[in-house]
Amino acid sequence: MSKLQSTTQSGSPRIGMVSLGCPKNLVDSEKMLGTLALDGYALVSEPEGADFVIVNTCGFIESSRAESKEVIREMLDLKRAGKTLTVPANKSILETLAGAGIKVKTLCKEGVCGTCRVGLLGGRADHRDEVLTDEERERNIQVCVSRAVPGETLVLDL
Ligand code: FES
Repeated sequence: MSKLQSTTQSGSPRIGMVSLGCPKNLVDSEKMLGTLALDGYALVSEPEGADFVIVNTCGFIESSRAESKEVIREMLDLKRAGKTLTVPANKSILETLAGAGIKVKTLCKEGVCGTCRVGLLGGRADHRDEVLTDEERERNIQVCVSRAVPGETLVLDL
C-alpha cells in the first residue's frame, strides 16, 4: 500500500489517496491527484486527515480485489471513528448528521416509528421517543427527537 505525499490547500475538501497494486496504479494515482489539485482540492498525505479517500486498485487480480476490500473496510472504520459534530439547539441529531453527509433512514421524524434507531455506544441521552424500552435505551437512540443530556457527548454507532 502506498500513501501518496501531497500538498494541502485551505478551504477545499481534503482528499486522501491510497494506491494499491503495481507501479502503474501509482502513476495513475499521481495523475488523479494532480488533476484534483489543479481543480482546487486540498490533498493530504494520510487518510486520517481526509474528508474523502480514494482507493485506487487493480480489479483484474483476485488478490488485489481482496486487498481493496480490506482497505475499504479500514477506511470505513476510520470514517466511523473520526467525526465529532455539535448539535445546535434548533436542530435534531438527525438534521445535524444529514448536514454532515451522514444518512439515517427515517419515517415519522416524531419519535414514534423506530426507523431512525442508531446504536448508542457512550454518553447519557435525553430520550424523547415513544418506542424504545428502558433496556433498549441503554444501547440505542432515536436520532430524530432525542438528544444528549446537556454537557454530555454521545458516541453513536454509525
Ligand atoms: S423517524 Fe420515526 S422514530 Fe425517528
